[in-house]
Amino acid sequence: MPHTQEEILLFAEDIAKQAGRLLLDKLRAERTIDTKDTVTDLVTDADRAAEALLVDEIERRFPSHSILGEEGTRAQASTTQDGYVWVLDPLDGTVNYTHQLPMFAVSVGVLLNGAPLVGVVYLPVLDECFCASRGQGTTLNGQRVHVSTRPTLRQSVLATGFSYDKHLTHQDNVSNVGRFIKEVRGLRRMGSASIDLAYVSCGRLDGYWEEKLKPWDVAAGVLLVEEAGGVVTNYHNRPFELDEGRIVASNPLIHSPMIDQLKPYVQEHAL
Ligand code: IPD
Ligand code: CA
Ligand code: CA
Repeated sequence: MPHTQEEILLFAEDIAKQAGRLLLDKLRAERTIDTKDTVTDLVTDADRAAEALLVDEIERRFPSHSILGEEGTRAQASTTQDGYVWVLDPLDGTVNYTHQLPMFAVSVGVLLNGAPLVGVVYLPVLDECFCASRGQGTTLNGQRVHVSTRPTLRQSVLATGFSYDKHLTHQDNVSNVGRFIKEVRGLRRMGSASIDLAYVSCGRLDGYWEEKLKPWDVAAGVLLVEEAGGVVTNYHNRPFELDEGRIVASNPLIHSPMIDQLKPYVQEHAL
């Protein structure tokens, strides 16, 4: 049975908030912490419980839809397959959460035939819910938001992040930070890619770049930025693909200057 975009958006918002409340309830409880591929890549009982909640709800409401969840609770879908695919990061900002820093979010993206259809990023501590639906714009707690209009890097606050293998490789984003910090008003490391993108969408941040991201980090946030009038590309200024991991998201005015700042890194690592 066909479902309307509106119905999918409302449902995505509802389950993101449910998962967010679960994370809040568990925030001060004792954590079970495991590591994944590297010692800095954590997964907790809260990540798994939030993903299980999201997956159970989606399977009950939309049994024919596919799911790609970070913690792999069920069989994993691909971002390029036909039909509806729910792309879930049940807890984006796990290191923050583990240290009881408040910057963490639930990220729920829905793709239709490989293209973002709906995106929700919910920050439980602030009770801020960012929602986007293709062609319908981006909202923050129901109010339309837009990317900033700051025209230069000098007036901009940017964010970036670092992958969990940063201590194992020279492709660690460190030299980019050295270049950008000299050019901008401010540089932030939130610790949550979905929040970085949500904040670009509402103009709190002017731009964001990062590499080695996974589809669940960005599936919802990319739509938030695009629907708010922003630009999202890879480091070569070409359209961003969910599986490629390198992202530049910004207001349209500082996008080219950001790409220029990344050129030495692109050359150094033959990206
Ligand atoms: C991480 C966060 C972080 C980013 C990392 C991601 P997780 O996701 O989004 O900001 O720098 O690349 O892996 O592990 O907290 O879900
Ligand atoms: Ca993540
Ligand atoms: Ca996560």
